Amino acid sequence: MSALRGPCLFGWQAKARAPQKCKPTRANVGQTLSSVNPVAAQFGLQIVTEPRASASGHFNRPFPRAFNHLHICVIAAGLLQVGCGISGAPGKQQAGSMPVGAPIQINGPLGLPAAPMPPDNPATAETVALGRRLFYDTRLSADGSISCASCHDPGRGFTDGQRVAKGIRGQTGSRSAPSLLNAAYYPVEFWDGRAASLEDQAGGPMANPIEMGQPHDVSIRKLEADPSYGPLFEKAFGRGPITMDKIAKCLASFERTLVSGDSPFDRYEYGHDPKAMSAAAIRGLAAFRDPARGNCVACHLIGKDYALLTDGKFHNIGVGVDPTGELTDLGRYVQTKVDADRAAFKTPTLRNVALTAPYMHDGSEKTLKEVVDYYAGGANSNPQLDPAIQRINLSAQDRADLIAFLEALTGGVPPDSGPPKTE
Ligand code: HEC
Ligand code: HEC
Repeated sequence: MSALRGPCLFGWQAKARAPQKCKPTRANVGQTLSSVNPVAAQFGLQIVTEPRASASGHFNRPFPRAFNHLHICVIAAGLLQVGCGISGAPGKQQAGSMPVGAPIQINGPLGLPAAPMPPDNPATAETVALGRRLFYDTRLSADGSISCASCHDPGRGFTDGQRVAKGIRGQTGSRSAPSLLNAAYYPVEFWDGRAASLEDQAGGPMANPIEMGQPHDVSIRKLEADPSYGPLFEKAFGRGPITMDKIAKCLASFERTLVSGDSPFDRYEYGHDPKAMSAAAIRGLAAFRDPARGNCVACHLIGKDYALLTDGKFHNIGVGVDPTGELTDLGRYVQTKVDADRAAFKTPTLRNVALTAPYMHDGSEKTLKEVVDYYAGGANSNPQLDPAIQRINLSAQDRADLIAFLEALTGGVPPDSGPPKTE
């Protein structure tokens, strides 16, 4: 499968447009993927059949802009190839695996930029719809019991509410399922960053023996046996067989639509509405930013035009260290073999964090209060503990305020992200 080049994402992020405030949804023009989410109304997600001059929804097709971005991205990939450690190996490109439909842009809601998009997989209405169907299809698991949504449940902020994820035959892994809301903005995927992109990630859980446990060729045969899938793949990619590359591209494009912003925090910070957050949350935001108190923004970034609430980097914050000081999970180190990366994990976005308990890569913190107390206590010491993590002086009031702020980070969930109506 062709992996999305890292520098492309960075290049794209750097060039990302200023966020747009979402206007209320108007009736979708053209193709509608069934809408299932009650909060969708505030969220303005639409697919238009005609290119429009001004974009008010999440989806539109500004061809010239898309072209410019692709252009920038390709150039950036070329220039940065060596610096970013890309081997230059072209990867297995499958002929015909480029989407054939008209590209759509996935605009960011208030507080987020447009979702980054790789040049070899521009989202189209067809690939997004197909990805959505695949995401909820349990036939991608060995015993037909598990779909992506089993662990990334739209009713729970696209995670599962469990400490660690449970796969086929009740088997458990060692890590907690992250929310997929805003996963599109991470430069790399997984807690340890071992997948270069959403495309690169998608095949993993299917074949993983304790998650979906089904070899890719079996998944492909099962989809081929369903007469409704073939024509959908042809509409999305043109004639040709169903391949893992196409399946992964569709899943990734669907996941890119799972953008969530326009939270009370966004309306306060970027919408300039002083009443959008409670007084406690406003004090909490100040503590979150204050280097002498929370200093949380050192890793959970808040920018001038938008806030990803992650730096996309890896830090050892002392989670994954047992009481005897032993590391329980080496995290990023397994990928890089750099000592400083021992037990370092990707900074998660804090958007929608109130929906996604329990917390941390191992689900070890049950509530936001536990998380805040953990930071206040200075975290578990260990040789690789990030220097930005220190015992911090937080009063009971500060802690309650920080929690109020974290709760103000809950945004809307896009419509057309729940299970599709099957025909
Ligand atoms: C059995 C539960 C389970 C299933 C089924 C599952 N996932 Fe996951 N998912 C996880 C866990 C656990 C992680 C974190 C693993 C890690 O980081 O090592 C994860 C991580 C991810 C990530 C990375 C997000 C991030 O923040 O880095 C993406 C994207 C993702 N899954 C998409 C999918 C897709 C697409 C499917 C279906 C093809 C799927 N998952 C099926 C449990 C599951
Ligand atoms: C040095 C960087 C850094 C700083 C500073 C930092 N965090 Fe984190 N944060 C992380 C990383 C990395 C994780 C994931 C760690 C893991 O799972 O092992 C995390 C996890 C979290 C989580 C759990 C999210 C989830 O989805 O599981 C919350 C909540 C959180 N941080 C809030 C805060 C708050 C509040 C502060 C300030 C008091 C703060 N962070 C300061 C890097 C940081």
